[in-house]
Amino acid sequence: MRHRIVLILGGGIAAYKCLEAIRRLKEHDISVRCILTKAAQEFVTPLSVGALSNERVFTDLFDLNDEREIGHIRLSREADLIVVAPATADLLAKMAHGHAGDLATAVLLATDTPVLVAPAMNPKMWQHPATQRNVATLKHDGVVFIGPAVGEMAERDEAGPGRLVEVEDLVAEVRQLLDSGVQTTAKTDLGSDALTGVHVLVTSGPTHEPVDPVRYLANRSSGKQGHAIAEAAATLGARVTLISGPVDLAAPAGVAVINVQTAAEMHAAVHAALPADIAVFAAAVADWRASKSPRNKIKKTGDAPPTLKLVENKDILKSVGTLKSNRPPLVIGFAAETSNLIANAKKKRKAKKADWIVANDVSEDSNVMGSDHNQVHLITEAGADRWTRMSKREVARKLMKHAAGAHAAAHKKTNE
Ligand SMILES: Cc1cc2nc3c(=O)[nH]c(=O)nc-3n(C[C@H](O)[C@H](O)[C@H](O)COP(=O)(O)O)c2cc1C
Repeated sequence: MRHRIVLILGGGIAAYKCLEAIRRLKEHDISVRCILTKAAQEFVTPLSVGALSNERVFTDLFDLNDEREIGHIRLSREADLIVVAPATADLLAKMAHGHAGDLATAVLLATDTPVLVAPAMNPKMWQHPATQRNVATLKHDGVVFIGPAVGEMAERDEAGPGRLVEVEDLVAEVRQLLDSGVQTTAKTDLGSDALTGVHVLVTSGPTHEPVDPVRYLANRSSGKQGHAIAEAAATLGARVTLISGPVDLAAPAGVAVINVQTAAEMHAAVHAALPADIAVFAAAVADWRASKSPRNKIKKTGDAPPTLKLVENKDILKSVGTLKSNRPPLVIGFAAETSNLIANAKKKRKAKKADWIVANDVSEDSNVMGSDHNQVHLITEAGADRWTRMSKREVARKLMKHAAGAHAAAHKKTNE
């Protein structure tokens, strides 16, 4: 089936990247009707947008011909999905407060079509409490966010969270939302308050174990899965504590982030953050650390290379799963395995007294570490359920919906 989206371009430097997105979306047989804000027209022209989309471009709320031919109400209702990219700080503020002073905001207000937003702005604008408040409001309303990414900005010497996500990631997310049918359920499903009043604790990313002041042991975890879980839990209304190792990702909006470096720091932060109703251990915690980490850099001496002696780190999942008091009612671990996936994950669930294990194959050809996709099995007491390959954001949404269901069922039982 041919899908139809409305793409709203805001007035930001990244608008030029959305020209490429239009082309790529059309290659996937998605028809793209574009609305440009007044500011967007300072960055890209309606002419180039029209040539690429091969559709009429809309800019003015008071264009009488438009009102007769299509109008802002029809424009929004005929779309399967509305995408705002680049979403400026200004557009987010207007959306969060229900403004309708121009065509873009009027279309956004006059619709119950799902909305995907890809913010792009200076890191200070993104991190400003006002923007973060607006993002939290919009997420609560069911708006789906992608990004921003972290990195260099167009401005000199500026870096941080605020870059538009890569065009291919934006296109993949649009396709995912259209294909998965999220378009008909986003408001009720993702914006619901299924986890309101629930404290969700999530760990994410790798840990860095120092060898000396400049060297460390690490692994290839990007933190994408853990951060997506924190974001999905917040979208469902949870109070979320995200304990993160060193990652190159923006903190999800509305989530309290505690940054740590080592497994020992993560262990301490997790126990300090309890009690929690649901705990998800997605971090790839180092099993071992160097037995000693000297204060000075280890020097080459010309003799034999130094021996690195390792000692085992505390097992965070097990330390929480086996708690006698203060144990979260739902403890979810992750098992990254390179062989015997299901058998090893089942063993891990029992040994660590986790309720569920999300098992994923991280062997070399699985292409999971650092990627945006994941193929997992959910291991519960009932057995192993294979989930199809999907984006890490979809895995996160599905896992949190399951967790919300389990939480509600347990709550009902205790109240009976
Ligand atoms: C050169 C330049 C670049 C800008 N880039 C951004 C940007 O990347 N993100 C953003 O939120 N605002 C950016 N702005 C500010 C917006 O253009 C301004 O807030 C405008 O009112 C947004 O209008 P709109 O939200 O209706 O598109 C930029 C302004 C200028 C002059």
